[in-house]
Amino acid sequence: MTLVRGTFLDTPVAGELRTLDGVVQVEDGVVTARGPASDFPAPDVDLRGGVVLPGLVDTHVHYPQVRAIGGLGMPLLDWLDRCALPEECELAAPDYAAAVASEFVDGLVRAGTTTALVFGSHFATAVDALFTEAARVGLRVTSGLVVSDLLLPADLHTSPARSFEEGLALAGRWHGVGRSRYAVTPRFSLSCSPALLEASADLLGSLDDALFTSHVNENPAEVAAVADLHGGYVDSYDRYGLLGPASVLAHDVHPTDAELAVLAARGTAVAHCPTSNAALGSGLFPLRRHADAGVRVALGSDVGAGTGFSLLKEGLQAYFAQQLLGPEGVPLTPADLLHLATVAGADALGLADQVGHLSVGMRFDAVWLRPPSGSTLDVVLRSAAGPDDALAKVFALGGPADVAGVWVDGTRIRS
Ligand code: GUN
Ligand code: ZN
Repeated sequence: MTLVRGTFLDTPVAGELRTLDGVVQVEDGVVTARGPASDFPAPDVDLRGGVVLPGLVDTHVHYPQVRAIGGLGMPLLDWLDRCALPEECELAAPDYAAAVASEFVDGLVRAGTTTALVFGSHFATAVDALFTEAARVGLRVTSGLVVSDLLLPADLHTSPARSFEEGLALAGRWHGVGRSRYAVTPRFSLSCSPALLEASADLLGSLDDALFTSHVNENPAEVAAVADLHGGYVDSYDRYGLLGPASVLAHDVHPTDAELAVLAARGTAVAHCPTSNAALGSGLFPLRRHADAGVRVALGSDVGAGTGFSLLKEGLQAYFAQQLLGPEGVPLTPADLLHLATVAGADALGLADQVGHLSVGMRFDAVWLRPPSGSTLDVVLRSAAGPDDALAKVFALGGPADVAGVWVDGTRIRS
């Protein structure tokens, strides 16, 4: 049993910030009690100074794109051609893939991310390298082989039969093993033939509790190209039975109302990736339309189109995007941003009963933000008017440099 002293902020109820300046008791990785310090003996771990948040949940991030971060000035399809895809070809080399896997997992942990739905690589050996590194470090990862058979460099193409066989073998090695799970991952319907999407559906159908993930409605030129190839974008997945409550589609910046109704009916979640949407000029995310339609939304960093691993930055950019939408935007509060970065992500990934907040019965996945002494965040936190104000300052100024500790299942995976 471990007693952890600190200022804990979380959002078990959407829109409501909960604060505990006290102690959380952790047994076998699970929170078993919480309350004022006076209710407990002397703590084992003292995290006073700064705040403790639930571990952050990234619902869309590309492992092979760490070294592609920062390719600014291009819309999606040009950026893929010039920045992302050449780098992704490099992961054919196992040593290169192992090095990138290490950089990637380290990048997530340094940012305070404890759970992630990760777009893998087109190469099965590279996907193995990711799962191996995530398991070594202790990260809670869902990932899979990315598959395509159109449009991309030929090195990144597969066939329907091979995609099924390699996916099944990877899932056999990693799905449900420790904290790892498998996600069936066609890259986007623009790079997939009907036969490949059908093979993806076959694979999904042959795995218990696997996730499905892909991209949707990110950029107007991409949406038009998908319409030529497949008809509707959401329908290009839905017609193969790929959309359900365990499906997560990234972006959805340009949905039709009919598509939102389909996503809501299927229970499919959307990964909102605000820095990527801004960097690629994809557009301002219509959060209100998603909320009104009843579509679940969480946050994704979308590295490497996104500009870093920190979900604090994604939260801030999500806030900016809604502000820029004026009356059509949702005025997000600090509690909303934390909820998007934690509970909503856990819910999107089917982990809402395990992680996302620090209530009794939940796993102790947590990040301790303690800004360096004298840093601007340190200075402004001292003058915070209360917990909501402190959280706003954390989203405005916080980042990986402020992460002083990260825990998964009660084990500290970073000091
Ligand atoms: N659509 C297909 N592939 C990608 C990718 O790697 N990044 C983004 N942002 N969109 C995509
Ligand atoms: Zn993406």
